[in-house]
Amino acid sequence: MRAPPPGTLGEMCGIVGYVGHQDAREVVLEGLRRLEYRGYDSAGMAVVADGALTTAKKAGKLANLEKVLADRPLPAATIGLGHTRWATHGGPTDRNAHPHLSADGSVAVIHNGIIENFAALRAECEHDGVEFASDTDTEVAAHLLAAAYAAAPEGESRLADAMRTVCRRLEGAFTLVASSAAEPDTLVAARRSSPLVVGVGDGEYFLGSDVAAFIAHTREARELGQDQVVEINRDRGVTVTDFDGGSVEPTSYTVDWDAAAAEKGGYDWFMLKEIAEQPQAIADTLLGRLGPQGELALDEVRLSDQELRDIDKIFVVACGTAYHAGLIAKYALEHWTRIPVEVEVASEFRYRDPVLDRSTLVVVISQSGETMDSLMALRHAKDQRARVLAICNANGSTIPRESDAVLYTHAGPEIAVASTKGFLTQLVACYLVGLFLAQVRGMKFEDEIASIVADLRRLPEAVAEVLARMDSVRELGRSLADANTILFLGRHVGFPVALEGALKLKELAYIHAEGFAAGELKHGPIAVIEEGTPVVVIVPSPRSRGSVHGKVVSNIQEVRARGARTIVIAEEGDEDVVPYADHLIRVPRTPTLLAPVVTTVPLQVLACEIAATRGLDVDQPRNLAKSVTVE
Ligand code: G6P
Repeated sequence: MRAPPPGTLGEMCGIVGYVGHQDAREVVLEGLRRLEYRGYDSAGMAVVADGALTTAKKAGKLANLEKVLADRPLPAATIGLGHTRWATHGGPTDRNAHPHLSADGSVAVIHNGIIENFAALRAECEHDGVEFASDTDTEVAAHLLAAAYAAAPEGESRLADAMRTVCRRLEGAFTLVASSAAEPDTLVAARRSSPLVVGVGDGEYFLGSDVAAFIAHTREARELGQDQVVEINRDRGVTVTDFDGGSVEPTSYTVDWDAAAAEKGGYDWFMLKEIAEQPQAIADTLLGRLGPQGELALDEVRLSDQELRDIDKIFVVACGTAYHAGLIAKYALEHWTRIPVEVEVASEFRYRDPVLDRSTLVVVISQSGETMDSLMALRHAKDQRARVLAICNANGSTIPRESDAVLYTHAGPEIAVASTKGFLTQLVACYLVGLFLAQVRGMKFEDEIASIVADLRRLPEAVAEVLARMDSVRELGRSLADANTILFLGRHVGFPVALEGALKLKELAYIHAEGFAAGELKHGPIAVIEEGTPVVVIVPSPRSRGSVHGKVVSNIQEVRARGARTIVIAEEGDEDVVPYADHLIRVPRTPTLLAPVVTTVPLQVLACEIAATRGLDVDQPRNLAKSVTVE
């Protein structure tokens, strides 16, 4: 038997499980549709009916599995599990799709994460004569479970018992869900450093990588902690233990997202809907933040005022779009709190041995709250005794649970892989954190804070105004669909906005794009400009500090003189840009530090329109996953 090829390890996926009275085939498939944004390289399902496990799986998007199921339906059942996969490397093939069965077909397993010691475990199974049917690390769990099940004492929770035995041997990060042909009323799941939530309905139970999997059925949820096993049984309900069998009381919560929030609601793409939801998402994130005495409130603060006053250094750590939110946050945090701030991508942070101690605050920004790079950065920070504050959108996810303080964004479920409302609400949350720290540390008077909060409260309307004028941006997008490269320039807070504009375009339209600090243009990037190269310029307000505005206006002239087609984003009333803009996008006047909330919006719409014109899947761009739960 050959060893698995290198690079076939690690899954990062959507997981659904169901035990109840409905048709499990429908419930699981529907759950997978809602989780497809987590992975879409392949998909599969298993049900238990008439004492046997039956599976169906197929490489490619969920639609491929749906075709298989239409041709060869699974037997009717009221218990089932399903998986949508995002393979970290290696070919996403039918045989590597989940669920994976034990050699005797008695146990089915789906998995999210990486079993790091799988090679040794696989060798052990092979030594015992097991033939492997896939190249995945997951399959070892299926074989080990079947063996542990056979060895477990007979009784009510035999599958859970077997799962605990197996989990004690696994290294790495994993969510596992298993079903046994011998237990038609039970699903068992385990979690270590990978997401899993339990939904509790009326005589029915759900498992999901996130609540989107089941909010159409119930909003009652149970949160699972690290290293826990959950059994859901038709009669006994939900039972949680640690890996040693010690009983655990799971935390209950009610999901405040309704099912409609996870529907497209008439839009062609989730992304368009989520862009349109931004004014509301910002308003919701601001709601209830100001107490009666004007004091700002975070959601959870397990730090004393003294500890907050002792902070002498802030790191903001995040990935992807959330990292760009961090770059913008730096300007506001330093300006308002006078604490030095460094911003770093999470995947680099812990590997360079950053200087951290008790007076360091590490702000982790993550929409999903499950991004493994960010989680590992958080754990490193805590090991070094730094304080951690999380800005997250997904309630009950791992990152906020492991942090000392939390501010939730109230964006509602974000389904499109490319983050939009998640990003704008992260910005708003960062501003609130800055003001909170400034307040606790006495850096700002109450009326100053109140005045900035009033500016924040005007943002939903400002974003709505931008959205109302997007027709010309869409038209522009259609005209740019054949571009080979698009450059983005910005200065001050406009620089991270340029980075975000370029990222959106790369993610969605697969067009080469780069964001530059406008002042750096002359130090190199200007060389790439040719006749007709589209250059998007985010122009700072004429009221901003120093003479930045004038300098950026000069940059527009410089690139235009070299043949660039200039697309200029400038605030209303800024007439200086008019002569040099081939295309002018107006945004409402907004205080400089808050301006990214409005200037980002046209860039989201632009990327979305270019991608749609190119005939691409806007919500599920190739090679990407929404929630990257592997390092
Ligand atoms: C993935 C997504 C990005 C996202 C990043 C961070 O790479 O494709 O859109 O910005 O993860 O996600 P998080 O959930 O931590 O904000």
